[in-house]
This record gives sequence, structure tokens and C-alpha cells, in this order.
Amino acid sequence: MRLSGYLAILTTAVSSCSALLAFPGAEGFGAQATGGRGGSVYVVTNLNDSGSGSFRDAVSQSGRIVVFAVGGLITISSRIVVSSRVTIAGQTAPGQGITVYGNGVSYSGADNTITRYIRYRMGKTGDSGKDAITIANGANMIFDHVSVSWGRDENFSINGDVSNITISDSLIAQGLETHSCGGLIQTDGGVSIIRTLYIDNKTRNPKVKGVNEFVNNVVYNWGGGGGYIAGDSDGPSYANILNNIFISGPSTSVSPFTRGNANFHTYVSQNYYDPDRDGTLNGWVFSQSTENYSGVDFQANKYNYPTVKTLLSPTDALAKVKASAGASKSRDRIDTYLVNTELGSLGKVGALISDPLVAPMNGPGPITGGTAPVDTDKDGIPDAYETAHGTNPNVNDSANIASNGYANIENYINSLVP
Ligand SMILES: *[C@@H]1O[C@H](CO)[C@@H](O)[C@H](O)[C@H]1NC(C)=O
Ligand SMILES: *[C@@H]1O[C@H](CO)[C@@H](O)[C@H](O)[C@H]1NC(C)=O
Ligand SMILES: *[C@@H]1O[C@H](CO)[C@@H](O)[C@H](O)[C@H]1NC(C)=O
Ligand SMILES: *[C@@H]1O[C@H](CO)[C@@H](O)[C@H](O)[C@H]1NC(C)=O
Repeated sequence: MRLSGYLAILTTAVSSCSALLAFPGAEGFGAQATGGRGGSVYVVTNLNDSGSGSFRDAVSQSGRIVVFAVGGLITISSRIVVSSRVTIAGQTAPGQGITVYGNGVSYSGADNTITRYIRYRMGKTGDSGKDAITIANGANMIFDHVSVSWGRDENFSINGDVSNITISDSLIAQGLETHSCGGLIQTDGGVSIIRTLYIDNKTRNPKVKGVNEFVNNVVYNWGGGGGYIAGDSDGPSYANILNNIFISGPSTSVSPFTRGNANFHTYVSQNYYDPDRDGTLNGWVFSQSTENYSGVDFQANKYNYPTVKTLLSPTDALAKVKASAGASKSRDRIDTYLVNTELGSLGKVGALISDPLVAPMNGPGPITGGTAPVDTDKDGIPDAYETAHGTNPNVNDSANIASNGYANIENYINSLVP
């Protein structure tokens, strides 16, 4: 009796521990990613491409929570490879935060990563045929408030043996001609795309196959390939497509949903479409017709996926995305242009770009660097926060686990954003 009671308590403790969210409010298939919790803290102290104190060095080892004592542009000459069990807390960077510019970032095989409030922009000089973010295999990753642009193959590609991924409150923009794709999302392991803006891509905004939930997203100015490409192959897919908003722009020539077939099983609700490019929001909710949804197989019931705590109406989703998608703690010039000038025009403005270094984008900078708050023990948590929250500003204690299950540094980084 006593033993089983003890076991019951143990089991409860273990399951409540494993249920800890990546951060408070994390949602979707990747919500339980643990990142670098239980490992050490690495403070990025310079904007160098490599070497001690660089972002590349920070993510090169497993078991790290990466914070930033600098803000600005990190120009990289080769692809950065992120290790397993890494948390990247871009919201800690002073000034306008961090933009990584150049060859893209690989998360292939990087199990258990948490990535927040950072911008990944490919260069025109980036390897041809490379994606801004690539995930070919791996499980349990969450990308939240991440801005991704200028990939040369896909802007954000998830393709292969990949499970439990969330992309939430992010901004995925402007693949470079000639391929110009928002992202190939192709896995049976579960991908949630939530409150994310897909803007200015010819095709694959995203192209989805497998297990997917697509909830409260905004897709703006897609091109000839379609806004949401449903499978386009023989493999079966099972998707919830809930309360998204599709707004045509100057480059848009086709209806939002394309290339569906009977293997694409989907539950749909309240997807709003504004096709007329007249600068006002005056569309309608798609009727559940085969034509409107490009021949998918409609399901009567929602798939039992993690979903969101609060399902917004499509027009509320638009407002939310405008206010906070991407690395929005401090939006840079690029995201501000995309959100205010392009999306804000409701159909009138949308750029085809082949070179991000010329107008209207004019390159990835400038990014204001700012000044980091004083951190005497250099453990990543500023003195003022430590003093106010009962940790020791003179002792390296940021990686210690607090009573709520998060590391001290996580409680700090989570306090910086809504
Ligand atoms: C960063 O790069 C600069 C110049 O490229 C160099 O002077 C400096 O030593 C580097 N810093 C570190 C920590 O390697
Ligand atoms: C994905 O998440 C589910 C639910 O948390 C879990 O049971 C499963 O093991 C995860 N898959 C992988 C490959 O980690
Ligand atoms: C799509 O939905 C709209 C609104 O319900 C409806 O008016 C229109 O006829 C539909 N188009 C097609 C091709 O079914
Ligand atoms: C803090 O301690 C961890 C190990 O507990 C270590 O990895 C890290 O380098 C230390 N940081 C500083 C600034 O000493």
C-alpha cells in the first residue's frame, strides 16, 4: 500500500514535470520542447561569425540556454548548425535584438530546441538551393516569434523524419526568385503552424503533407503556386485548417488552396479570403466547397491535435499577427515594412524581390545594438532582476532549477516578453 502510494506520487511528479511547457503559453506539437533546461547558460558577447562568445559557438554544444549581451547583425559565412537541447532566447538581446544574416541555419537532428525572438535572413550570397531554416530530421522543436526571410530554396523547410514541431507567432517572408517558396512542410510527426504570417512567396506558403495543424495564420500576396498547397502527392495527409485569413496581393493569381486531392483529409473551419486587392478588408469566409478547397477530403470532426488555447476569428488573427508576428519585441525595418506597408495595404502593395540588397528591402540592417543591463556575475541574469527575484547577483546561479520547474534564467527570459 505504502509503496503503491509512493509510486503514485512519483508518477504524478514525473508527469507534471514532463508536462512543463517550453515557456508559459507555448502551444502546438512542439509545446513541450525542453531546450537547454538542465544544462548551462551561454552568454553571447560579440557579433562575430565564430569564436569564443559568438552565436555559432553558443549553439555548437548541446545542453545550453543561449542569451545575448549584444544586439545587432551577425553576418555568417557558412551555415550555422544548432545542436540538440538548446534554447535560443533572442529576447534577451539589447537594442533591436539579433539578425543572423548569411547562409541560413540548420536544425537537422537538433532534438528539443526552443528558439524565440530572433531573425534569420539568408543572403543573396547564401548557397544556392539552401533554405533559410532547414529541418531534415529531429523532434520537439518550437520556433516562436521568429522572423525568417530570403531563403533561396525554401524559406522554412521541414522535410523528413521530423516530429512535434511548432512554428508560432512567426513571420516567414520573401523567398528569392526564382524558386521562391515559403516552405515545404512534409512530415507525419506533427507540425503546428499558429498565428504566423506568410508573405510574398510565389508558391508553397506552405506546401503541406502529413500531420499538420494550420491555425489563425495570415497568408498575404502568394503567387501562382497557391496560398496553402494541399499535399499534391499520393501520400495521405491529416490536417486541421482553422480560422486562417488569406489576402491576395499584386502577385496573387490563384485561389488560396491548390493541388488538393482525396488523400488530403482535412477538417476546416472559418477560413477567410479577401481576393479583391482594394485596400479594405471585405472578403468572406470560404464556403466548404470542393472548388474552394481544391478537392480535399473533408472530415466531419477535428483531428485531436494539440491546437491553441484561444482560437481567434480570422479577422482577430489578422490583428494579432500584425501586432506581434515575428521578432516583435523590437521590429526591424524589414518586418516593419512587410507588416505595415505591404500587409497593411490589404492587397495593394507586395514586392517581388530577387535581390534583398536593393530597394525596397535595402539589406538586413541597420540593427541598433543597445546596451546590456549590468550583470556582475555574468550568468546571464541582470543584477536588477536577480535582486528583485531573490537570486544572487554575485553568484553564477542562473542554470539552477527554480521551484516552478524552470531554470532561473528561463524565468528571467520568459519575463521579458508577453
Ligand atoms: C571578434 O572579431 C574581431 C574582429 O574580427 C576580433 O578583433 C575579436 O578578437 C573577435 N572577438 C573574439 C572574442 O574572438
Ligand atoms: C511527440 O510528442 C508526443 C506527445 O508529447 C510524445 O508522446 C512523442 O514521443 C513525441 N515524439 C517524439 C519523436 O519525441
Ligand atoms: C467559394 O466560397 C464563396 C463564399 O461562400 C462562394 O460564394 C463561392 O461560390 C465559392 N466558390 C466556389 C468556386 O465554390
Ligand atoms: C556558470 O556555471 C556553469 C556551470 O555550472 C558554467 O558552464 C558557466 O560557464 C558559468 N558561467 C560563468 C559566467 O562563470
